[in-house]
Amino acid sequence: MSMEMPSPERLNPLNARPYTEEHIGMTELLPDFRMDLRNPDPVDLDGFINANQVKDWSLLTWKDVGRPHRVENMAGVRTDWEAKHQKTMSVHHSWEHFNRSFHEWFVKDVPKELRENRSALGHHLLRFNWKEVKAGLGETLRLSLWNYVQRIEDGVWDPRGKRALFQGLEVHKPRILFLGAAEGYEAMQLSAMYPGGEVVLVDYDEFCKTDRHGDFPETYPFLGINPTTGSAKVWYKDQMEIRYLVEDIRNLSFGKEFDIVISVGLLEHFPDEIKDEVMEWHRKFLKPGGYAILTTPRNQWRTRFYYNVMADVMNYMYRELMNIEQMGLYVYENGFEILRHGFIKVHNGIIARPR
Ligand SMILES: C[S@@+](CC[C@H](N)C(=O)[O-])C[C@H]1O[C@@H](n2cnc3c(N)ncnc32)[C@H](O)[C@@H]1O
Repeated sequence: MSMEMPSPERLNPLNARPYTEEHIGMTELLPDFRMDLRNPDPVDLDGFINANQVKDWSLLTWKDVGRPHRVENMAGVRTDWEAKHQKTMSVHHSWEHFNRSFHEWFVKDVPKELRENRSALGHHLLRFNWKEVKAGLGETLRLSLWNYVQRIEDGVWDPRGKRALFQGLEVHKPRILFLGAAEGYEAMQLSAMYPGGEVVLVDYDEFCKTDRHGDFPETYPFLGINPTTGSAKVWYKDQMEIRYLVEDIRNLSFGKEFDIVISVGLLEHFPDEIKDEVMEWHRKFLKPGGYAILTTPRNQWRTRFYYNVMADVMNYMYRELMNIEQMGLYVYENGFEILRHGFIKVHNGIIARPR
């Protein structure tokens, strides 16, 4: 069963848990995101990941796989800031800009903004206000792209792809550490699939705790399991055990105490000289037998187009786009055994263990 339009009852902001187990199998397009409770069956999920193409990582070389693509065009806010201050924006400051800028897009009523933008564009066209027309066209393109990527395709959160990547882990009430957590989406999806443990989100930008995670919709339904019955269950953010630490990953004092250490869109922000340090962050807090999970954006023309159109929203810092072989080689070369690898809608994903 699947349907597209939500009932007014489910759009009512006072309805804190609008979806229940009755709605499993459904999807609906809401003003700011797609809710997707399809595919409780692990077998169906296999279609959402293109998995395990490389049979022996030890045979791959950088000569075979080539280098990642580097995204060069920076957001205007960053280039203006650097011209004004005559210095390079620090990495931490760049992330602060990125998080505020990206967050604005998650809280938009996208159809409403598209309507308003189109009507303003018509108004400026009739008056030959070419500067406003140019700006309005750029914004309409960004809104239309975001509408497609985040709402229609659900490519950013991609719950079915993420569930496909995360399925089958041998963990019980896991402690999950999310490095560079931003809003923490993937750790919440893991917590729904493997409930009863604890999630620790870490990000050194306080805004991520207060706004990106703080504003993450309480009404967003995560499809997971009921640990008592083993059947499918809908989980919400406020039903999970989540701790948010505002801290630099390099200052964390945890021991080897986590069953899962995850990062989403972190590795590609570090040039090769620092990749081994980033991989060490994923190793040092893992219990023996624990899982490191990493995802990075794919190098495909659609992703390059996205970072081009959305440059002023997204491009505040160093960024590479990789294919799964390149990403796997970074993980393998840094001492991990790769248990599952593949690509979902817009990201590559790897499940690995220290060798
Ligand atoms: C690209 S974001 C992660 C992608 C995320 N899913 C999103 O939607 O934005 C990476 C996050 O890592 C954080 N970060 C980067 N370096 C860090 C560090 N050394 N310590 C803690 N957080 C860090 C940034 O503040 C940022 O929020």
